[in-house]
Amino acid sequence: MKNILITGGAGFIGSHLVKFFVENYPKYNIINLDSLTYAGNLDNLKEIEHKSNYKFIQEDICNHIKIKEILKKEKINSIIHLAAESHVDRSITDPFSFAKTNVLGTLSLLEAAKNYWNSDFKNKLFYHVSTDEVYGSLGSEGLFTEKTAYDPHSPYSASKASSDHFVRAFHDTYNLPIVISNCSNNYGPNQYPEKLIPLFINNIINNIPIPIYGNGKNIRDWLYVEDHISAIDLIFHKAKIGETYNLGGNNEITNNQIANVLIEKLDQKLKRTKGESLNLIKYVEDRLGHDMRYAIDSSKIKSELNWFPKHNFENGIDKTIDWYIKNLT
Ligand SMILES: NC(=O)c1ccc[n+]([C@@H]2O[C@H](COP(=O)([O-])OP(=O)(O)OC[C@H]3O[C@@H](n4cnc5c(N)ncnc54)[C@H](O)[C@@H]3O)[C@@H](O)[C@H]2O)c1
Repeated sequence: MKNILITGGAGFIGSHLVKFFVENYPKYNIINLDSLTYAGNLDNLKEIEHKSNYKFIQEDICNHIKIKEILKKEKINSIIHLAAESHVDRSITDPFSFAKTNVLGTLSLLEAAKNYWNSDFKNKLFYHVSTDEVYGSLGSEGLFTEKTAYDPHSPYSASKASSDHFVRAFHDTYNLPIVISNCSNNYGPNQYPEKLIPLFINNIINNIPIPIYGNGKNIRDWLYVEDHISAIDLIFHKAKIGETYNLGGNNEITNNQIANVLIEKLDQKLKRTKGESLNLIKYVEDRLGHDMRYAIDSSKIKSELNWFPKHNFENGIDKTIDWYIKNLT
């Protein structure tokens, strides 16, 4: 019997993951542990909250005593760890919260799992969900591979890099069975509208200026959230212990291009004149330490686990926009 603790399950990616596991694996018990910060929203899980294989626990991952009790009480044998402070801008003004949740919170979970499993690691797994931002910034050429040296620049990416190192250290030191995936930028429903895509959609709908950092030429690779979930599903079930997988959508797009695509599609969907919302674009002072380009080589998961994203940016962004038009208040 699998009793899986998913941390951060009320957040953007976590809510999709919880829903997917509850619906697709009725024999697994899914325990969603989330402290419900501003980024967590249980409305994202309304469809599955009544299911018998689902339970929600409101708790902070940093509360080590409580985490130890929960692992024991729920007989947890797998952990998929997503709980984090996740917004780079907030990490620039409040780095302590990021170190606390992302570093100490991860350590709290690792230590609790190691002690509860007590060297009986058969059929146990600690899966750490991380970001490509740990690798730093690329020039116009090249891709991040699993062998790229860590070079984080923001307090957010530094805290995630540190948590990745702790996860690997628990594998190397105590043999804790771990896997890590480092994923590029996700987009899709359920994301708190402070992140670039939902923020731009919200502002265009409400005729508020769209703030673009610097010259807008920074490049990110974008992956539709459901494709991230299908990769997590494969890695959780099939990855070799101790491995790391890079995940990306092969969609390198500048912030300027994103603004233009969203304006074009929203002007059409909201029955505005073509190009009417272009005047909302407002260039603002660049983000401190703003990385220029992220791009991912996902060939390892493709060849080893046969993972392929199902969405291209065109259909993923359409689904995303339609969801926000319906759900943004
Ligand atoms: N969003 C992306 O593009 C992206 C890309 C790659 C990796 N990731 C990683 O995936 C994970 C999930 O990201 P997301 O975008 O869904 O984040 P999110 O901010 O939408 O959700 C984070 C969730 O964690 C919860 N949380 C925060 N601090 C907590 C604490 N101390 N104890 C318990 N719960 C806490 C929040 O309430 C929230 O529900 C993060 O670890 C992030 O680093 C995100």
